[in-house]
Amino acid sequence: MGIIIDGKELSRKKREEISRQAGEFSRAHGRPPGLAVVLVGQDPASAIYVRNKKAGCEQCGIRSFEHLLPESTTQKELLALIDTLNADDAVDGILVQLPLPSHLQEREVLLRIDPAKDVDGFHPYSMGRLLMGEPTLVPCTPRGIMYMLDEHGIDPKGKDAVIIGRSNIVGKPAALLLMMRHATITICHSRTLNLDRKVASADIVVAAIGRPEFIRGEWIKEGAVVIDVGMNRTEAGLKGDVEFEGAKRRASLITPVPGGVGPMTITMLLDNTLIAARARVS
Ligand code: GUN
Repeated sequence: MGIIIDGKELSRKKREEISRQAGEFSRAHGRPPGLAVVLVGQDPASAIYVRNKKAGCEQCGIRSFEHLLPESTTQKELLALIDTLNADDAVDGILVQLPLPSHLQEREVLLRIDPAKDVDGFHPYSMGRLLMGEPTLVPCTPRGIMYMLDEHGIDPKGKDAVIIGRSNIVGKPAALLLMMRHATITICHSRTLNLDRKVASADIVVAAIGRPEFIRGEWIKEGAVVIDVGMNRTEAGLKGDVEFEGAKRRASLITPVPGGVGPMTITMLLDNTLIAARARVS
């Protein structure tokens, strides 16, 4: 029977450390680290994320700059705001909440963010550095996954890690981080054949495919570590990508949904803001 990884508790512990370090930064530099969050439109899930980011900043002594823009915002207006934030010395990190409304070009927007302030790690420069094994700012959810493994004493070295999902936000960077720590990685996705056999071979499973309970409990190898990034709203409530009850019986360690990976993501965003702030003043 697996031990449940408590993302809330790990997040609380990490936030204490971030608060302490943000205080030290403020004393040394006469200003707190600053995070600008940009939200365009009214997507309710995004609005909740943005509120949680603001609350996280307040809790940790990071100054937040909130920019809530109307749905009608043009590409030109959004790029102009990013230029202003790039030039603002009080802003160490810039996050543009995704997805953007469909009339805006996400790729061009992400490219416009100064890589030194790219606390999401989504800029091609940040991604390229990670691919080369010389990371600068690393995407928050994959960083949260590595933090959870470390806190539970899981060394990926030599292990078979199977990642289900190939997104730029989670799957690809998580695979690269695990590879940097000497895991053997397999990246699977919605078109992978014999997914059950791939999952059954894994010592570490990272599920980030966005389909409720897509990974069946009986696929999991006895003693595997299961990290579930899924956040799927269903009629039966919020469900992960892994069938939790079945997987828990076989795994040695498993993250719940909610209360697993989710709380770590914003915590790592706060940490990335601190990292960016320190790099900018050095
Ligand atoms: N939308 C869902 N997750 C994320 C994230 O990690 N960063 C941003 N900017 N938008 C998101």
